[in-house]
Amino acid sequence: MNAAHTAPSFRQMMGRFTTGVAVILTAAREGPVGATVNSLTSLSLEPPLLLFCAGNSSRTGACVIEQGLFSVNILTAAQQDVSGHFAGKDTNKGEGWDAARCRRHGGWLAIPDSNGALFCEVDSVYPGGDHRIIVGRVRDILAPEAAERPLVYHEGRYSRLA
Ligand SMILES: Cc1cc2nc3c(=O)[nH]c(=O)nc-3n(C[C@H](O)[C@H](O)[C@H](O)COP(=O)(O)O)c2cc1C
Repeated sequence: MNAAHTAPSFRQMMGRFTTGVAVILTAAREGPVGATVNSLTSLSLEPPLLLFCAGNSSRTGACVIEQGLFSVNILTAAQQDVSGHFAGKDTNKGEGWDAARCRRHGGWLAIPDSNGALFCEVDSVYPGGDHRIIVGRVRDILAPEAAERPLVYHEGRYSRLA
C-alpha cells in the first residue's frame, strides 16, 4: 500500500468528515450497555433502516447482536460527558449509568435529554474489516419538539456549531 494510505493518514482524513455523536444503548441482563459512535448513517427510508459500525471487540456490538434491540441517542452539545462515559472501555460502565438514569421505552432504554432517540431491532449484521456493520430497523422515534445545539466531532475532537 502507498505510504499515503496508512491507517493514521486514513484516520486523519476521515476525521475531516465532521459528524454528530450518538450513544448506542442496549438493555443487557446486567443493566444498560452502551458505546459512543459517530459511524451512524441512515440507510433506507422504506423500510426505515440505519446502520452503525462497531469494532469487533466492542462489548456493545456483541450485546446489541445478542439482545436484538438497541436505541440510538443523538447527543446535544451539553452531553459531552455522556459521550466520554460511553466511549470508555471498562466493563462496568452500566454502574456509572444504571437503568434508573435511563428512560424506559417498551423493551428499550434511552438517554434522557438527548436530541432524540431511535428505537431499533437488529435487521442484519455484516463483516467490515475490523468492525461489524450493524443494520437496525427503526421501530419507534422519540423526538423533542426542538433540537438543542448538537455535539459535533471533527478532527478527533469535540467541536461546536458556531
Ligand atoms: C466521538 C466518538 C466516536 C466513536 N465512534 C465509534 C464507532 O463508530 N464505532 C466504534 O466501534 N467505536 C467508536 N468509538 C469508540 C467507542 O466508543 C469505544 O471504543 C468504546 O469503549 C466501546 O465500548 P464497548 O467496548 O463497551 O462497546 C467512538 C468514540 C468517540 C469518542
